[in-house]
Amino acid sequence: MLFRIVFLGFGTVAQGLARILIQKESLLKRTYGFEFKIVAVSDIGKGSVLNNRGLDLSRLLAITQKRGSLDMYRGAVNGLSSLDTLRKADATMLVEATWTNLKDGEPGLAHIRTALNRGLHVVTTNKGPIALAYEELEALARKKKRHLRFEGTVMSGTPAINLVTETLAGSAVKSIRGILNGTTNYILTEMESGKSYSDALGRAQELGYAEADPTADVEAWDPTAKIVIISNVLMRGRVKVSQVRREGITKITQTDVESARLEGKRIKLVASAFREGNEVKAQVLPERVPTSDILAHVSGVLNAITVSTDVQPDISVIGPGAGGDSAGYALLSDMLAINRALGD
Ligand SMILES: NC(=O)c1ccc[n+]([C@@H]2O[C@H](COP(=O)([O-])OP(=O)(O)OC[C@H]3O[C@@H](n4cnc5c(N)ncnc54)[C@H](OP(=O)(O)O)[C@@H]3O)[C@@H](O)[C@H]2O)c1
Repeated sequence: MLFRIVFLGFGTVAQGLARILIQKESLLKRTYGFEFKIVAVSDIGKGSVLNNRGLDLSRLLAITQKRGSLDMYRGAVNGLSSLDTLRKADATMLVEATWTNLKDGEPGLAHIRTALNRGLHVVTTNKGPIALAYEELEALARKKKRHLRFEGTVMSGTPAINLVTETLAGSAVKSIRGILNGTTNYILTEMESGKSYSDALGRAQELGYAEADPTADVEAWDPTAKIVIISNVLMRGRVKVSQVRREGITKITQTDVESARLEGKRIKLVASAFREGNEVKAQVLPERVPTSDILAHVSGVLNAITVSTDVQPDISVIGPGAGGDSAGYALLSDMLAINRALGD
């Protein structure tokens, strides 16, 4: 099937997907019958370009990598806002990869609503809209008979959402625990080798794992959004971001790390979703995890989840939780799932 694609947001993740699409174009067509035409890209800082006859993805990447503006792309309509792009593009799929915003989900929420209302399928890595408005967006997608997929919102290209909804279909999830933030896991791992919290954070910033303002990670907002998505999508909960019991890692000291070690444990920032009566509850807390638990062995920037279901005990998956290629791959896996579903 041929997909006519609009990109909103053309940063790290969207460019990761673009590279994979260029590299695998003929394999995707040959093996999966998946074909694509990029009809528009709109990014608030990098410029905007639309041509319903198709755009050259390699040229778009080259312009962006030279820090040029996409408005320089000739033979196309330039300068459209993201919403005008959606209105004018003759498209069948939106790739939404703008900033995550956990206050009101914007601009991603408006992008996804508009795209679904206009009959586009949507793939996204943007946690904000899914954490804040999953129920509404899922109902809208169903009403419009379009697909909304968001594998990359939880562990980038490491399967989490599709693992449960597809591979483990037919089982009821009892609980899910995970290490869902690579930055804090890296800091805690560095602290195990003797670094102070601030030295470990500084190193994470030098390596580009932590932002200059690390609040979203170290105060655990990022894994909170992810555990909300897990609770509501995989366990059919109705958990809001504000209801998650949340504590970050800023108060963890070398002494805490050492005393955990003497108990045969490791301090990990663990995100959990579990059932209490008829309700699903979620929390993100630093925990002393015994070394008999696989999560204790997830080091550095890796992420992991352990899923416990009614028919099987713990199933764990470990892998990268960030990076343009990994999150770009998550978008591709969602596109291929839509291609499969429409081909059935
Ligand atoms: N990076 C990862 O490893 C990763 C992994 C999983 C999920 N995610 C999520 O995926 C999304 C994209 O991440 P990223 O790393 O690619 O971020 P990024 O590099 O900052 O890219 C986001 C892009 O969106 C653009 N943008 C912001 N508001 C916009 C608007 N209203 N209209 C059009 N474009 C807009 C930004 O513009 P500027 O040009 O002005 O910056 C930027 O180029 C985020 O929601 C993130 O949380 C990221």
